[in-house]
Amino acid sequence: TTNVLNDSFGRKHNYLRISLIEKCNLRCDYCMPAAGIPLTPKKELMNADEILEMAKIFVSQGVDKIRLTGGEPLVRKDFADIVKKLATLPVRLSITTNAILADRFIETFHQYGLTDINVSLDTLETDKFKMITRRDQFKKAYQNIQLLINEGFNVKINAVLMQDFNKDEIVDFLMLTRNSPITVRFIEFMPFDGNRWNKSKLVTEKEILEEVTDFFGDKYLQKLEDEQHFTSRNYKIEGFTGKFGIISSVTNPFCSGCNRIRLTANGKIKNCLFSNHELDLLTALREGRDVKELILKSLGQKKKVRAGMDDFEKLNDPEKHNKNRSMISIGG
Ligand code: GTP
Ligand code: 5AD
Ligand code: SF4
Repeated sequence: TTNVLNDSFGRKHNYLRISLIEKCNLRCDYCMPAAGIPLTPKKELMNADEILEMAKIFVSQGVDKIRLTGGEPLVRKDFADIVKKLATLPVRLSITTNAILADRFIETFHQYGLTDINVSLDTLETDKFKMITRRDQFKKAYQNIQLLINEGFNVKINAVLMQDFNKDEIVDFLMLTRNSPITVRFIEFMPFDGNRWNKSKLVTEKEILEEVTDFFGDKYLQKLEDEQHFTSRNYKIEGFTGKFGIISSVTNPFCSGCNRIRLTANGKIKNCLFSNHELDLLTALREGRDVKELILKSLGQKKKVRAGMDDFEKLNDPEKHNKNRSMISIGG
């Protein structure tokens, strides 16, 4: 029998999210400050072998799903080497990417069974893409998403919704699911260090569902069964091939089913997306100290809901939510 990474609320953590890099080839406004973030010196980041060593320790404790995140994971020069190493482990491998470089890695994905690909795309309009990402790359992103779909990957599109920005594109996004076997997930905008989050920019789960039913009518909206450790509550439009989901981390958290643990590019463990308590696994690994013990310690400190920001007002208080990292160095 394998071990399971239990926390004090009985949640089993079998899903590890590894951030490979703090850099990105886009500059999304909600993810990083305009000025960027101070980058960690390369020698303080996990190298490919250390990533494998870390992953092995987690796998020995029951992890069977690994998602690679960033920054943008495909920007990492040794990406293919990392995937090759991780593919030797008994885990389901997945990635979250902006797809700008995806065409260069199709063979790598196929070869190492990296079939679950979540792509961040917040708008279907060229001008707005440029506005939010500060890069003129909509066409590349969109073409690569089509390529991934055509290549048979299991593609989910992640769209962070914001008032006065892309709320008006909900129906356009849903239309992508009409003839395509993909899932589009609308994400409530979340507060992180330096992203100038404000309640007034938030588009809530409730508002999203209203937009959908206003256009399609209640009758055509089908609720699907929730997956065991879901981030998104899923639906489909009757007759459409694909699905859609809503990730309501702000107004309707799903922490009771949380099975996720995070490792940052500089080797720190985070027991929750919103937690700023980090333990330094990389230094422990390099000094030959017990990494497993630190992992268990971190899980033991995990809070029930959103790192203790259980009520919405705490999340709404800049004093309380601003001491985390910027999203670019967490990886979502
Ligand atoms: P699947 O493996 O396909 O279920 O992906 P995922 O939803 O776990 O990961 P993805 O990287 O696609 O993230 C989509 C959105 O969900 C992002 O906004 C993440 O920040 C958010 N997210 C992922 N994991 C968690 C989590 O544990 N808690 C919260 N609150 N949000 C999460
Ligand atoms: N709020 C919600 N989602 C975010 N993401 C990045 N920053 C935020 C934020 N502030 C999403 C990205 C990506 C995923 C890993 O996290 O769109 O798809
Ligand atoms: Fe898990 Fe924290 Fe996300 Fe809740 S907010 S689901 S506890 S990672």
